[in-house]
Amino acid sequence: MAFPLFTVSQLSLFFQVTGGSGFIGYHILSQLLNNRYFVRAAARGKKIELLKKALSANYSSDRFEVIEVADITSGDLSQYLKGVDGIIHAAAPLPGRVDVETAFKISIEGSLHILREAVHAKVPRVVVTSSIATFPLPQGPFGANDLAVVEFAEKHTEIDVTLAGPAFTYGPFAPGFECFLPEPDLSALSTNESIYALLRPGNTRIPIAPGAIDVRDAARAHILALKFPPSTEVGPKRFAIVSPHRSSYRDALTIIAKERPELKDRLTDATLAREWSLYTFPVEWQKIDDVLGLKADSFILWDKTALDTVDSLVHAEGLWKEKGFEVPPLFHHL
Ligand SMILES: NC(=O)c1ccc[n+]([C@@H]2O[C@H](COP(=O)([O-])OP(=O)(O)OC[C@H]3O[C@@H](n4cnc5c(N)ncnc54)[C@H](OP(=O)(O)O)[C@@H]3O)[C@@H](O)[C@H]2O)c1
Repeated sequence: MAFPLFTVSQLSLFFQVTGGSGFIGYHILSQLLNNRYFVRAAARGKKIELLKKALSANYSSDRFEVIEVADITSGDLSQYLKGVDGIIHAAAPLPGRVDVETAFKISIEGSLHILREAVHAKVPRVVVTSSIATFPLPQGPFGANDLAVVEFAEKHTEIDVTLAGPAFTYGPFAPGFECFLPEPDLSALSTNESIYALLRPGNTRIPIAPGAIDVRDAARAHILALKFPPSTEVGPKRFAIVSPHRSSYRDALTIIAKERPELKDRLTDATLAREWSLYTFPVEWQKIDDVLGLKADSFILWDKTALDTVDSLVHAEGLWKEKGFEVPPLFHHL
């Protein structure tokens, strides 16, 4: 099958995104819309109306559509996938929101269901958000979703499949995301909960492994992945993606104290943050550059990620306070 290359100037392309009410998925939607693509976003339950509200506040309603997909693991999606140029599948529960076993099960079943439906509807390309960012692929339950996707892709060369696996993802919420944060619900913060926890003097739960990425870079990687070249030319496309910059929680606390002195008294003791010999981890940089066109020197600096995240969290907190909510007590889900 011949895969047409396309550029951002081709504005009539139509992409479907799952998980659009999530931290990463909403950034993906925002970047697609900023690039003037058409998008169809799948959501469920009360998030359907919230997603419509969030997108309407920022984008013209003739460029997006929000549809209900109540269960990502089953159901006929053919009516929604007809004519779609590509899918970004970013819906899966984070381990910690549901128990780890359930999270893995939904991830695998959701990915395979979306891929099968995509093949059936002749969608040419799918980008799946991987739940892990290690290279090479680990054995056992942590690698099971990626393994299932890789095996599917090998059997179905009629569809082009990319796995994009961001490291711990932090960053500001995309404009409109406050619609999903109407009240203090730490689980709605996704991984930013770990940065929010840094605004607690008594916090001792600082992430124990190195490697991070700004959510804006993670979303950018997904969109670049829609643009080929295909696996038939470059081999399997599974990318662990991490910022090449030193991502140190100790540095983050230091820069927040310096640049946001009003928060100084709220901060976790920086000496509790672990020190590592390496603050990122090895990934296939040459392949990421050659295939995705994602340059190591284009990643957002850690200081900016830390400050923008804190500003975004403090803004959300201000909205909660205006409504009379207390600052939520620390409860670490991740
Ligand atoms: N955040 C990270 O550091 C990180 C790093 C690597 C990979 N990832 C992966 O990236 C993806 C998105 O993560 P995120 O940080 O954006 O998490 P998030 O903010 O919790 O968003 C998860 C999204 O998935 C949807 N979802 C969860 N379970 C679902 C189900 N059973 N059926 C349909 N939709 C479901 C959620 O919908 P509702 O809003 O309706 O619940 C939400 O839209 C996940 O696959 C995660 O494993 C995340």
